[in-house]
Amino acid sequence: MRMAIALLLACGLAGSAGAALAAGKAAETPPAGRPPERVYAVACGYCHGHNVGPIILGRGIPAATVQTMVRGGRGAMPAFRPTEITNAELAALSRWIEKSKANAEEHGK
Ligand code: HEC
Repeated sequence: MRMAIALLLACGLAGSAGAALAAGKAAETPPAGRPPERVYAVACGYCHGHNVGPIILGRGIPAATVQTMVRGGRGAMPAFRPTEITNAELAALSRWIEKSKANAEEHGK
């Protein structure tokens, strides 16, 4: 009896963990082609402009530099894989950042 309960518990746990993993995977996979404002808001803006990373808007940072940073990371800056930010999204994002104006709502250095 005790064995059966333990088995049931184990199966139940494994099942819910599997479902959670699958859900996490689905949530991480971005839909194709989010606009750069959106990618910036969800993936960059909570650090940049919020005292964690340096301000990157309105500085004319070259698109190539942005791409290198996003794919490679540096120090506390995480790297993002193509499953998180697609190549097409990164191309659009990096051009958008290069041409961006400073955002007065952001703070930090
Ligand atoms: C977890 C916080 C965090 C997130 C999220 C983040 N960054 Fe960063 N980023 C940093 C930090 C910290 C640095 C400074 C790294 C260093 O020089 O050691 C940095 C540096 C940079 C730089 C170089 C800036 C400079 O002045 O040289 C660029 C460009 C950049 N990040 C772009 C991005 C983009 C684009 C995203 C979103 C896709 C992003 N970062 C997401 C923390 C973050």
